[in-house]
Amino acid sequence: MKMIKCYIQHEKLEAVRGKLFELGIPGITISDIKGIGKPMQQMNSTPGQVVPQFHPGVEVTIVLENEAVNEVVDTIIGITRTGALGDGKIFILPLEDAIRIRTGQTGTQALY
Ligand SMILES: Nc1ncnc2c1ncn2[C@@H]1O[C@H](COP(=O)(O)OP(=O)(O)OP(=O)(O)O)[C@@H](O)[C@H]1O
Ligand SMILES: [Mg+2]
Repeated sequence: MKMIKCYIQHEKLEAVRGKLFELGIPGITISDIKGIGKPMQQMNSTPGQVVPQFHPGVEVTIVLENEAVNEVVDTIIGITRTGALGDGKIFILPLEDAIRIRTGQTGTQALY
């Protein structure tokens, strides 16, 4: 299993949600976040001051079986890539286990 964490712009969230559930993802969690990406220093620098500023965004977390990761990542990129700075970033983490509390199922059985 993998955990996908991606940081995207608010305006892309509805399209991402729609497409991912068409693909049949088992669940999703989102959070409103503030973050800083690499080129923010350039974008916010004023003479004598290069303190990066926080920008609002959305963190999307999805836990998936390994086989589903590529399709989900490609779908997210297809929706969110404009070519502009700040399109977002995707992190893919190995996930040790999942447990459905109601049944005690573990691993991918807890997901689907
Ligand atoms: N290394 C990182 N660690 C944690 N969060 C990050 C990291 N890089 C980006 N983020 C999160 O992703 C958001 C969007 O990042 P962003 O798309 O600006 O990345 P970038 O590396 O600056 O790419 P770009 O050059 O396209 O702007 C940030 O506001 C932050 O919340
Ligand atoms: Mg950036």
